[in-house]
Amino acid sequence: MSDSNIDSVLIENRKFEPSSEFASKARIQPADFAALHKKAEQDYTGFWAEQAHDLIDWQTLFNEILDDSNAPHFKWFADGKLNVSYNCLDRHLADKADKTAIIFEGEKGDIRKISYQQLTDEVSQFANALKAHGIEKGDRVVIYMPMTPEAVIAMQACARIGAIHSVVFGGFSAESLRDRINDAGAKMVITADGGTRGGKVVELKAATDKALDHDCPSIENVIVYQRTNHGANMQQGRDIWWHDAIAEQDTVCVPEWVESEHPLFLLYTSGSTGKPKGIQHSSAGYLLGAIATNLWVFDLQDDDVFWCTADVGWITGHTYVAYGPLAAGGTIVIYEGAPTVPDGGRFWKICQDHKVSIFYTAPTAIRALMKLGDELPNAYDLSSIRLLGTVGEPINPEAWMWYHKVIGKEKCPIVDTWWQTETGCNMIAPLPGVVATKPGSCTIALPGIDADVVDEDGNSITEPNKGGYLVIKKPFPAQLRTIWGDEQRYVDTYWPKFGGKYYLAGDSARKDADGYFWIMGRIDDVLNVSGHRLGTMEVESALVAHERVAEAAVVGYPHDVKGEAIFAYVVLRGVRPEGGIDEALTKELRNWVGEQIGPIAKPDQIRYADNLPKTRSGKIMRRLLRNIARGEEITSDTSTLENEDILLQLEGKA
Ligand code: WT7
Repeated sequence: MSDSNIDSVLIENRKFEPSSEFASKARIQPADFAALHKKAEQDYTGFWAEQAHDLIDWQTLFNEILDDSNAPHFKWFADGKLNVSYNCLDRHLADKADKTAIIFEGEKGDIRKISYQQLTDEVSQFANALKAHGIEKGDRVVIYMPMTPEAVIAMQACARIGAIHSVVFGGFSAESLRDRINDAGAKMVITADGGTRGGKVVELKAATDKALDHDCPSIENVIVYQRTNHGANMQQGRDIWWHDAIAEQDTVCVPEWVESEHPLFLLYTSGSTGKPKGIQHSSAGYLLGAIATNLWVFDLQDDDVFWCTADVGWITGHTYVAYGPLAAGGTIVIYEGAPTVPDGGRFWKICQDHKVSIFYTAPTAIRALMKLGDELPNAYDLSSIRLLGTVGEPINPEAWMWYHKVIGKEKCPIVDTWWQTETGCNMIAPLPGVVATKPGSCTIALPGIDADVVDEDGNSITEPNKGGYLVIKKPFPAQLRTIWGDEQRYVDTYWPKFGGKYYLAGDSARKDADGYFWIMGRIDDVLNVSGHRLGTMEVESALVAHERVAEAAVVGYPHDVKGEAIFAYVVLRGVRPEGGIDEALTKELRNWVGEQIGPIAKPDQIRYADNLPKTRSGKIMRRLLRNIARGEEITSDTSTLENEDILLQLEGKA
């Protein structure tokens, strides 16, 4: 970790206690909070066993709690059996059959409300359709869907029969889809003819066809949900319309009872190499984390309407849309579309119209909406909102204060939730009725989560505001189990230091004098663009796959809406463009990266040089490239550069 990463400059002193109105009605009161922490400290595994016992309906109750005999491969509740879909649906039918589970709104304003009974029927019916097409327990199914209730139905249907889903975000390209299908060895893709975003059709079926066009041997069938109805090319024998697939199916499907450790899903995320990692989650441990945090952090109560704006293509859309709130018997909102259609007031109109009480989004969205001014949110009645949340990157205090004042009317706690695809659920976050918040801090670790900041040798850093590695010191139920098909990478990525004893999150952080955590950034070559993780290597690999590119290096630089933006330094095959400028090629390369990975990965800036700056040993001087991209003073020793003249090219001065 470089020194610039470890020293902290930002000190924010404001502190906000929960309003008495909120606190008096919160699920977790100060005494409960103290009791949870005390129990977790005194009897760590007993604490989690008690939670698992109370929050999950088991088909076979577990006796074993934590098996750490094969660390870092942990097992939780291993001799128990359950079904996640049963826990999200069937168990609520006795008293909540008619309760609304999902309120859906499409970009064009189409609205559907789905009760728990209807959702159970639809999930069961679709689960039967999956079985009829040969999907069995343990098979991998890729879901590449627009943000409609059917995406949740598809996930729940897989869970119901023990199939392992892997949702691929609809914004990813055909190439990304193909890589993920192949890595997972998926038997089926569930997609739609298209989705809608910003008034445009997202060509999901066309991209699926392109992905399956070659080198994708494991896929047997594609089920296509009809959403846009703009025409899809159905391949006979392979492709089936969703409505045809369910037509003859029963709405009763007995859940497949699976072992606690049975994989519930894979979700691909970027790391510091070019190849995304298939993060593998368990059934029971994951479900437990999802339920507990929906209750603790989001204070989900019976009359709440919870809107987490994340797409199901990300972990947030798994834990706080498709699984957690349903397992807790809540009502969720799903919106398919852009936040700016017809104008930047859309989110606030949805909050008003559906009486959203809990609203959870990303700092990048907050900053983008903040820029549009206060008139938009002020035009709507936001009085139903009682709790706000953020996730994905550190929120800057200015955006936090705007969220607090203009959206929360100074009465709603803000839960800033630190977690990762790998952790499955919130890890460091305030319990909103108890823990005072500070703008920009995710506050303190949840009960049963042993988070800390340590130095290079794994010692706790006790000096306030001194940066170090963010680690989790004890195994916890919702953590990833492995990287699909790559045990070694799992061990190497998350347990490389401190004798393999602590989970290494990959973030640097500091704790202030109150013990509050402040996340400072990644310690690896991972970018955070609009709250989404992208590996620099991934973007570099995409660039060098272009016929005109010989070499590329990618770094991040601060961006006022996206958080971080992408700067690419490119060495072309053949001559460098005159003055380093070739707008047509830049456009082509940006689109190329968009096709290779997805539009979020398009570099914001591309600069051409005859060479990349390398040390004599051949290492790319990334710090130097970062300094240039950020307009900072160059601190690297450039005398070791093989060719100092390229500095001017890199700086855009030649
Ligand atoms: C990385 C995980 C967890 C869902 C969204 C992203 C950063 C996440 C926060 C936060 C500061 C945060 C970290 C983390 N991050 N939440 N509240 N404050 N940073 O999931 O793609 O797995 O990325 O996002 O750097 O390691 P992800």
